[in-house]
Amino acid sequence: MNASFPQIQTVATKPFADQRPGTSGLRKKTTVFQQPHYLANFVQSIFSSLEGFEGKKLVLGGDGRFFNREAIQIVLKMAAANGFGEIIVGRGGILSTPAASAVIRAEKAFGGIVLSASHNPGGPDGDFGIKYNISNGGPAPEKITEAIFAHSETIESYKIIEATNVDLDTPGETQLGAAKVRVVDPVAIYLELMESLFDFEAIAAMFRDGFTLKFDAMSAVTGPYAKAIFEERLGAGPGSVINAEPLEDFGGHHPDPNLVHAKHLLDLAMSAQSPDLCAASDGDGDRNLIIGRSQFVTPSDSLAILAANAHLVKGYRAGLAGVARSMPTSRAADLVAKKLGIGMYETPTGWKFFGNLLDAGRVTICGEESAGASSNHVREKDGVWAVLMWLNILAVRKQSVADIVRLHWAEYGRNYYSRHDYEEVASEGANALVASLRKKLPCLAGTSFGGLKIEAADDFAYNDPIDGSVSKQQGIRILFTDGSRIVYRLSGTGTSGATLRVYIERYEPDPAKHDLETQGALADLVACAEKLAEIRHHTGRTEPSVIT
Ligand code: G1P
Ligand code: ZN
Repeated sequence: MNASFPQIQTVATKPFADQRPGTSGLRKKTTVFQQPHYLANFVQSIFSSLEGFEGKKLVLGGDGRFFNREAIQIVLKMAAANGFGEIIVGRGGILSTPAASAVIRAEKAFGGIVLSASHNPGGPDGDFGIKYNISNGGPAPEKITEAIFAHSETIESYKIIEATNVDLDTPGETQLGAAKVRVVDPVAIYLELMESLFDFEAIAAMFRDGFTLKFDAMSAVTGPYAKAIFEERLGAGPGSVINAEPLEDFGGHHPDPNLVHAKHLLDLAMSAQSPDLCAASDGDGDRNLIIGRSQFVTPSDSLAILAANAHLVKGYRAGLAGVARSMPTSRAADLVAKKLGIGMYETPTGWKFFGNLLDAGRVTICGEESAGASSNHVREKDGVWAVLMWLNILAVRKQSVADIVRLHWAEYGRNYYSRHDYEEVASEGANALVASLRKKLPCLAGTSFGGLKIEAADDFAYNDPIDGSVSKQQGIRILFTDGSRIVYRLSGTGTSGATLRVYIERYEPDPAKHDLETQGALADLVACAEKLAEIRHHTGRTEPSVIT
């Protein structure tokens, strides 16, 4: 065989159990992905579900976790064997999830593959994941993920090129079979996009005037992006970005920027040494954490505040077309949309449901309670973007984060909000809990628990207004007459057992009551959540494992 045209091999294989993509792609223990053929089967199932990509571009990158480099080589060789014309890969196999989305859009690629298990721990004992994104830069819709799954159940062979590994560390082009592989700087296209949206000069001036930032990249993918943007481009002092080097095991940490895994940032923000802004992002760079001096901003509040202030930012000066939030996210953003007189959309959990609304120009900004926010600049949530939004708004308003939050509550009221997670519970118990709640739904309206009266209860179904698709059983909603709400749903991203998420929200219009401690303010609803679902009985747990 001609060396410049390596042999395409057809490798016999058979299906693995359960390669059904979850909330964001296929996510399993790394050891599961390391089994021979496991990754290849899923990648072939992706390609076999797509049509018309021959000769077109595929974007490829990952969050750098353990097994990323091996996986990149497998995907490269399979993409070439299956007929893609060009594969654009981030140097070192690195692309943050929002950067992958930006590159797909900028390069007008057919699609992209992102290797990541997001905020889940990495390493040989951690998790790995893979996700397919379509040409708009966003996660594949359910129609495609279902087709991928169906294919994975009947797969008999996959195509791969027999070739030596591609050098991932030197930018430039190489040939792989009939395909071209282009290794690109993972930051450049993303940085250019951020420059088009934000007033970098105003933010740089704020840093020159002494504004201080601490951004924790959590030894994950955002390190190179944050260094280039915050420190080099905007002039945040050296050391503003910490844990900036992406490590295969994230330094043994859990790269989830919440108050449990980034508690050190909360402690710093509550101390006398607090910078003006503390922030963090997750394993693959799509989540964000925002804490001002003595002021944590819940992701739901952050979405509402970004929407209310977006017109102050260069890229959004013309105003917003609309706002979307996932169903469990608090209704703080709804109040902003109402006041602005713009559309408000409630979608199921998972970023893929925002894609159609963004593509159709119905919404400009969207977000989830799970620390995700973004806009129509990409089709993924974007951690660094959220931090830049805050920086730009702070630079214009010249007020502290705490002042901005308090003034927002005074204007719109405060949505006390918390999520209680029961992680790694037995699947049977979790399923029984949901089944029993579903059975109760028809008789709940009108009943009272303590002083709380239920107005309505349902199992959320979403009718996509753009493509007409219907997604059922997306979470159980209990709505109370005072506007409070409890939502129950099972996680679609866990890798062992089941995770029950209980979302609790209470609206408080009175500014005199905006200083309550969150868990205290929600205590009666938490008790009600237990009574309604019998969490203890079904899971054997007396306490949530994580409260955010
Ligand atoms: C979780 C979050 C969800 C987010 C997803 C991917 O999914 O709840 O909002 O889109 O991670 O980051 P879940 O585990 O709840 O299915
Ligand atoms: Zn993520």
